[in-house]
Amino acid sequence: MSIQVGPYKLSSQVLLAPMAGTSDKPFRMLCRSLGAGLTTSEMVVIQAHLLRTNKSKYRLDFKGEKSPISIQIAGSEAQELAFSAKKAVEYGADIIDINMGCPAKKVCSKAAGSALMQDESLVQTILESVVNAVDIPVTLKMRTGWDIDNKNAPAIAQIAQQAGIQMLSIHGRTKADKYNGMAEYDTIQAVVGAVDIPVIANGDITSAKQAKQVLDYTKASGIMIGRAAQGNPWIFSQIDHYLKTGKILDSIPFELKKTIILQHIQQIHEFYGDFLGLRLARKHILWYATHLDEKHVQEFWKTINKITDRKRQFELFKDYLNQL
Ligand SMILES: Cc1cc2nc3c(=O)[nH]c(=O)nc-3n(C[C@H](O)[C@H](O)[C@H](O)COP(=O)(O)O)c2cc1C
Repeated sequence: MSIQVGPYKLSSQVLLAPMAGTSDKPFRMLCRSLGAGLTTSEMVVIQAHLLRTNKSKYRLDFKGEKSPISIQIAGSEAQELAFSAKKAVEYGADIIDINMGCPAKKVCSKAAGSALMQDESLVQTILESVVNAVDIPVTLKMRTGWDIDNKNAPAIAQIAQQAGIQMLSIHGRTKADKYNGMAEYDTIQAVVGAVDIPVIANGDITSAKQAKQVLDYTKASGIMIGRAAQGNPWIFSQIDHYLKTGKILDSIPFELKKTIILQHIQQIHEFYGDFLGLRLARKHILWYATHLDEKHVQEFWKTINKITDRKRQFELFKDYLNQL
């Protein structure tokens, strides 16, 4: 089954989740090259006074990325979000994604992210105003509701479809759950039954077999991977291959993994420059090292975390990979 979002037919059913601090340009490009059918930017709040900040400079750089480019916007007011959407088009968006899934305080204290789900009429106003502001497809990311007694994702999904939203991704937790417990897929299944637009299931999916089980259970059009891709971007090829062929992909040769990992670290360094590049590469190095050799990671981490020169960081990590 292929996923159609407006004029775009996605190349696979497995998508990278938007993750602030992770789904930046180097990581998006890497995941796309490894089989993600769509990647979505980190969420951006595009306001005139924020456009000159360093954060926006990096978050709004999509040069060289494969189409369709999906930019996620966040906010709490219809006009503000419509403005963000129009600006995102100027920055290269082919698809606008609206964040109603994030429980982060910074977003929710302003009643944005998943807190918006409490106010269905505001949701309707916001979605209509964003859809009307741009000529490109608008998608929505949300949770199952705001707490266990208020799982209103199916109702919001219908409002969204009515407003012209062209795809939904649902994280199988409520806002109150934060990241506690396990994601559930019953509400996602109910959402699939409530609308005709593609629905993407998200939450705690960590393997190809599980991806298939979630797809079969929910009847969703695709699945979205977040944390399981950190330090493990090969998960996209593994899931894509399994969904397309029913066969488990042979494990990726370590030498190839090493080359891809080092290229990724180099791209982070080049994209962000010396100061930020060094710092932002650290967590990816830690994730890769954890996946490859969990036993010795603490020891290695103590050393590499102290390095303040990006060339030295790269060399040390390379040496570490070479001795595995
Ligand atoms: C570090 C981090 C940052 C995130 N940032 C965003 C974000 O900017 N926008 C958003 O809609 N969701 C965000 N999320 C939620 C993820 O997109 C996803 O819904 C969630 O992690 C569940 O999927 P997973 O179990 O595959 O990680 C973030 C999650 C994490 C762990």
